[in-house]
Amino acid sequence: MISGTTRVLGVIGDPVAHTSSPAMHNAALKALGLDYVYVAFHVAPDALPQALAGMRALELAGLNVTVPHKQAVMAHLDEISPEAQAIGAVNTVCNRDGKLLGFNTDAFGIIESLKADGGMDSLPGRVVLLGAGGAARAILYALLAREEVAEVLLLNRTVERAEALKGDLDVAGKVRIGSLADSGAIADAGLVINATSIGMHPHEDISPLADCSCLHGEMLVADIVYNPLETMLMRQARSVGARAINGLGMLAWQGARSFEIWTGVMPPVEAMIEAALARFDKP
Ligand code: ATR
Repeated sequence: MISGTTRVLGVIGDPVAHTSSPAMHNAALKALGLDYVYVAFHVAPDALPQALAGMRALELAGLNVTVPHKQAVMAHLDEISPEAQAIGAVNTVCNRDGKLLGFNTDAFGIIESLKADGGMDSLPGRVVLLGAGGAARAILYALLAREEVAEVLLLNRTVERAEALKGDLDVAGKVRIGSLADSGAIADAGLVINATSIGMHPHEDISPLADCSCLHGEMLVADIVYNPLETMLMRQARSVGARAINGLGMLAWQGARSFEIWTGVMPPVEAMIEAALARFDKP
C-alpha cells in the first residue's frame, strides 16, 4: 500500500519503457513487505543533470542507471565505489542521507549467475569473453578479480575496442585479444561468455560465432542476452552437449545487489526472476 511514508526507487534510461526492473524490484519489495515503490523514469541525455538534482530534491532512495547514462551519471555523484571507478560506469545510485553514492553491480551479477545458474562456484582457468562494450567491461573486471582465472581471451568485431579494454583493466597481463572471426581459439576454454548484443530480439537468428565447431560438451556458455530466453548461441551450445544459460540470472542478481545496497536486505532472487519471466508470457 502506497502511503505518505513510502520511499521511491527507480531506473533512469533512454529508452526505458521496456525495462523489466520495475517488475523485478516491486515483486521483491512485496515479498519482503518493504515500504518502497520502484518506477521507470524516462530521462533524455540533456536532462540528466536535472534528473540527479531532482533525485536529491525529492529524496528518492535509490536509482538504477541504464543506457545511455552509466558513464555520464558519474559526474553528478558525491562518491563512487572503487569497483564502479575501475569499471568506469555506475548502474546503481544510493541516496544516503542526502549524499549520492555510485556503485556498479554488474560484476557481482555475472559471478552470482555463473554460480547459481551455471553451477560454477569456481571459474575455469581459461575463459572466453565475446564483446568489448559496456557489459563486457564489467564482466572482464569480474573475471580478472578471480584468482583462478589464468587467462581471458577477449574477442570483438572491432579489435581496437578490445585492445582499449585490455589497456584499461588488464594490470596482471591475463588478457589475450582477438577478432570474433578467430573463434577456433575458443576450444580450450571452460567458459564462454557472450557480452555482445548479437542474437537479441528482433535479430534472433544470428550468433556471435559464425563457426560453432569450437564449442564442446565440457563448456558452459553464458549469454548476457535474455530476450529471447534461448538465443541462437545457446542452441548451438546445447546441440554439442554444452550447458548454456541466458542473461536473466545476471539481470536478476545485479538487481538484487542494488536492492541490498538501497534497503540493507538481500531480496528473494527467485521472486525477481519469476516476475521478469512473467513478462515474457504476455502476448
Ligand atoms: P553494451 O553496453 O550493451 O555492451 P555496446 O557498448 O554498444 O553495448 O557494445 C555492444 C557489443 O556488441 C560490442 O562488442 C559490439 O562490437 P563492436 O565493438 O565491434 O561494435 C558488439 N556487436 C553488436 N552488434 C554486433 C554485430 N552485428 N556484429 C559483431 N559485433 C556486434
